Amino acid sequence: MTHPSLRIAPSILSADFARLAEEVARVEAAGADLLHIDVMDGHFVPNLTVGPPIVEALRKVTRLPLDVHLMMTNPDAFIPEFAAAGADYLTVHVEACPHLHRTVQSIKERGVKAGVTLNPATPLNTVEEILADADLLLVMSVNPGFGGQHFIPSVLDKIARARQLIDRTGSTALLEVDGGVKVANAAVIIQAGADILVSGSAIFSSSDYGKTIHALRGSAQTPKKTAGGKTDGPRKR
Ligand code: DX5
Ligand code: ZN
Repeated sequence: MTHPSLRIAPSILSADFARLAEEVARVEAAGADLLHIDVMDGHFVPNLTVGPPIVEALRKVTRLPLDVHLMMTNPDAFIPEFAAAGADYLTVHVEACPHLHRTVQSIKERGVKAGVTLNPATPLNTVEEILADADLLLVMSVNPGFGGQHFIPSVLDKIARARQLIDRTGSTALLEVDGGVKVANAAVIIQAGADILVSGSAIFSSSDYGKTIHALRGSAQTPKKTAGGKTDGPRKR
């Protein structure tokens, strides 16, 4: 199995916040493709993290595209600030956006790429009508709010169906997977169709960020053993 343009997006949620610029420089040097920034509002999810000032500060210290994941109840109110702060992608939860089309347009009007995301229990068909307008579809593989959780295995099938939906509709959206992504499960996630792997604790708790990022990326070349011990062929795209 190969994936010519697999991207790795370290999530800074598991980084040392007291040394954030240093941590970002380390993952950039280690070959990261995007920097995933988790924004939590203490309302949509039971945790609080960072806001536009941190995005603005990080914009000054890295050339990596800033992939900002908005886990918040009212993202519309903050889109102008996050766009001005230098976000490259702004991803909103469908569960938090009653007027998702308007929200996506508001992101794109500001020259920012628009992502839409689904919690594990939210059906894939809730993004069917917006996919043509979206630049990114994020499938959550944990219930959002915390780093270091376990990948929910049943989400694999949803990733595969998301891949089919994107390909069938001719959407140009990238398919991103976030939550519990490790070296051990990266191959099956890539095989299911992911274009971008978000990984927080697996990278930042490792002693060598470069080695971990390389191993995650290398999973795209690892033939997957099936339960019966046979090796699967390349994934058809
Ligand atoms: C979960 C966040 C994720 C998280 C990933 O709410 O959206 O981005 O930081 O962390 P790991 O890779 O540790 O599951
Ligand atoms: Zn995230």
